[in-house]
Amino acid sequence: QSILFVTSEISDYIKAGGLGEVSAALPRALRHHYDVRILIPGYRQVLSQIGAVEEVARLSASYGIPACSLGRAMTRDGLIVYVLLCPELYDRDGSPYVDSFGVDWCDNDIRFARLGLAAADIASGNGDPLWRADLLHLNDWPSGLASAYLAWRGQRIPTILTIHNLAYQGNFERSRLSHLGIPDAAFHIEGVEFYGKVSFLKAGIYYSSHITTVSSTYAQEITRPEFGCGLDGLLRARAEEGRLDGIINGIDESWDPSTDPYLVSRFSAENCRGKRANAESVRRSFGLALNTGPLFAVVSRLVHQKGVDLAISAAETIVSQGGQIAFIGQGEPRFEAELQALAGRHPGSIGVKIGYDEGDARRMYAGSDFLLMPSRFEPCGLSQMYAQRFGSLPIAHRTGGLADTIEDGVNGFLFGEPSLNRFKDAIKRGLDTFRSRSRLIAMRRAAMKRPHGWDRSASRYQEVYERACHAAFA
Ligand code: ADP
Ligand code: GLC
Repeated sequence: QSILFVTSEISDYIKAGGLGEVSAALPRALRHHYDVRILIPGYRQVLSQIGAVEEVARLSASYGIPACSLGRAMTRDGLIVYVLLCPELYDRDGSPYVDSFGVDWCDNDIRFARLGLAAADIASGNGDPLWRADLLHLNDWPSGLASAYLAWRGQRIPTILTIHNLAYQGNFERSRLSHLGIPDAAFHIEGVEFYGKVSFLKAGIYYSSHITTVSSTYAQEITRPEFGCGLDGLLRARAEEGRLDGIINGIDESWDPSTDPYLVSRFSAENCRGKRANAESVRRSFGLALNTGPLFAVVSRLVHQKGVDLAISAAETIVSQGGQIAFIGQGEPRFEAELQALAGRHPGSIGVKIGYDEGDARRMYAGSDFLLMPSRFEPCGLSQMYAQRFGSLPIAHRTGGLADTIEDGVNGFLFGEPSLNRFKDAIKRGLDTFRSRSRLIAMRRAAMKRPHGWDRSASRYQEVYERACHAAFA
């Protein structure tokens, strides 16, 4: 069976967050069972790294969506990647979604309609003449229109949409309808219409055969108004029809503290002594005093979702108890500025790096004692799993994937509501644990040994694929 995994990021070449990592890992976990291939826009960062690209088809223009070529390339380990060759849409510096000032690309609707339409073309047999997809696996709003295009053509090809974050919806003005090739009749509550706009994510949810999201708790949360971002009604309907599942993400083998080349010293659950050298290296590179008190880390996009404001507010408490915090992140300018001011007020105790650095992040997971993750909502969250694997105990809000991967008092700490007081209570429990060496070591070991691989999740995706195929041909 052949599966086209459609994504707007893959960490082999470009990533903005967890989606990029999942897009690299999940197809690889499934490739032993299926002929899985990836479809991704040919961003500058993809084409400069991917090696030889062979042109296999010409995809025609449609309404405001320009024609482009479909290229076929291969990752170093032999995964086939289809890339959309369309320089006018993708040959730019910046992230997949925003320019270097953090502003959405003004043609994002066309850029990702191009992706959705190409996916539909490949599934209909108008892509690579030597290959056709039996099933589309779409991810988040950027590929959401693919299932809609298929439905409007009357093609019954099974489509799975995985929601990694319901808060990003790809909503555009109604006036864009005709440019996107969306039939007027589909601008309807039973269709792509969402509060007067065109929603790519809603299109994906509405027209796909099956919806998944990245944890069981989040799958339930999004059917309720507090977490549903306006789509809870539709999601509730899908859940009642048995068409919504939560499947937790795994983490890949590169997250192994006994082999990770980014670490200054390697270690394992049996012998954690190597954590200390990593802690020292984090302290040095974040300008922190070289002491042996509790070291907290924050590795995060700096956005409201992640509760950065809560972490900033709790910082003084941590410092007053003899703790230190290393922050790395980038995102909203106001949070970047607040963090820098915070570090300025607590030299030697709080260190901040604005930016993105894989090596720093890995050494922070390895060197820290605790990871702060007060996310208001968290579909899955990978950082807490990386921290656990590297022996750093997450202190996190009991929501989404955090609730499903952290066992309170066993391999991390959970608090019930995203308020400063509840968060501080959990931090206090962390600090108490730090003072009891044997408890700290026991929890660390439990965290490092938590099962984390992709195998189980990959077999759950297999079940979903089978059900979707069955339903499409029933
Ligand atoms: P999200 O996708 O919502 O940002 P996840 O927890 O799923 O959250 O994934 C975030 C990923 O990005 C993790 O691998 C984390 O280590 C990484 N990350 C986030 N910010 C940074 C940063 N500033 N530098 C390095 N890695 C980062
Ligand atoms: C999104 C979510 C995050 C999840 C990731 C991968 O970015 O915010 O919780 O881990 O997707 O599924």
